[in-house]
Amino acid sequence: MDRSRDPVLERYAEAARQVDAGGACDGCASGDGPFGAGNYDDLAGLPDAAVHVSLGCGNPVAVADLHAGETVLDLGSGGGIDVLLSARRVGPSGFAYGLDATVEMLDLARRNAAEAGTSNVEFLHGAIEQIPLGDAAVDVVISNCVIVLSGDKAATFAEIARVLRRGGRVGISDIVRAGPDDGTPTRVTCAASAITPAAYEDALRRAGISHVEVTLTDAIGAGLSNAIIRGIKPATSIRLMRDEDWTAVRDIYEAGIATHNATFETAAPSWDSWDASHLVDHRLVATDGDVVIGWAALSPVSDRCVYAGVAENSVYIHPDYRGRGVGTDLLDALVTGAERAGFWTVQTGIFPENLASIAVHERVGFRIVGRRERIGQLDGVWRDTLFLEHRSPRL
Ligand SMILES: C[S@@+](CC[C@H](N)C(=O)[O-])C[C@H]1O[C@@H](n2cnc3c(N)ncnc32)[C@H](O)[C@@H]1O
Repeated sequence: MDRSRDPVLERYAEAARQVDAGGACDGCASGDGPFGAGNYDDLAGLPDAAVHVSLGCGNPVAVADLHAGETVLDLGSGGGIDVLLSARRVGPSGFAYGLDATVEMLDLARRNAAEAGTSNVEFLHGAIEQIPLGDAAVDVVISNCVIVLSGDKAATFAEIARVLRRGGRVGISDIVRAGPDDGTPTRVTCAASAITPAAYEDALRRAGISHVEVTLTDAIGAGLSNAIIRGIKPATSIRLMRDEDWTAVRDIYEAGIATHNATFETAAPSWDSWDASHLVDHRLVATDGDVVIGWAALSPVSDRCVYAGVAENSVYIHPDYRGRGVGTDLLDALVTGAERAGFWTVQTGIFPENLASIAVHERVGFRIVGRRERIGQLDGVWRDTLFLEHRSPRL
């Protein structure tokens, strides 16, 4: 694509030229409602030009909760406001990249960085659909009102997942289509390319980002809304279980049984029995290199048609890997796959003593439905279970 002829980028080139000439730019909105510089609490010390050319719809630096030492990438960095603020947050041991396709914006951003005396930044020329950085290059990807402009959001999200390190996170401010155009006026010119919160979440998940949350912030007319979007690239590698994983899966299961707080079972089943009772397309393992460190799987709950979209989940983590987020990553991936396959409810029973498992399920969006008292015996002792379910909001 010849970006010099792209009308969207030409508009931003003109905005940069206007600010360069010492004026306010068309479409820039310093302190104007939920747009531009009005989204920031503390802009002290930033060059005027960086503030005047602020064209965002949120504050992704706050959304991403940056820490000292982190490496950040801002997609569509414009005049550099979020890059400069990120650089301040991550400190001298961290680094902030800005990426923009408009040369005039990059020139302005570089001058702003020089004027601010910020050295832990670099502005890159390129497209967010083809990021000029290597795999796993950054800890955090932020973006402010840019992805809505992309004509190939799947490519953008795939690139985000590629450049993030495992366990890295996404903190985005963007515009989404929250409802049909109701005729209320809007200043937004990119309405046609705005996608719904559900489509945003789904596209990020398909790219491999988990724990995705899309939160609407300000209605901005015509059924559009500003939104903040958060997500995490799973810390662990997750894939479908293969038959040859069974020995490791069984050993992890037996370690769970040995805790007397994971299941009523007192011995692991045979492969044939386990295989027959778990859904083939919904068996996942987490791996560390070649080693299986956890598994999660679904079983049907009933033969009745009415419950065809209801399944029961199991999740077990190798003792050496507990407390590291592996269970959350596995369960999130399992639930996402279940929703995609049309399951509307995933349910489970957990001993109330198993606080870690309850926390993992709640983190993924399960709710405690109730307590089943003295529902079964383990080692001759009556035990309660908590009944938890994850009800898909979309099905
Ligand atoms: C709405 S402005 C936001 C700028 C900045 N994030 C801010 O908050 O001020 C959009 C920016 O994204 C850039 N941009 C638009 N499409 C892009 C793409 N596909 N790849 C890279 N940059 C893009 C534009 O040049 C412009 O600087």
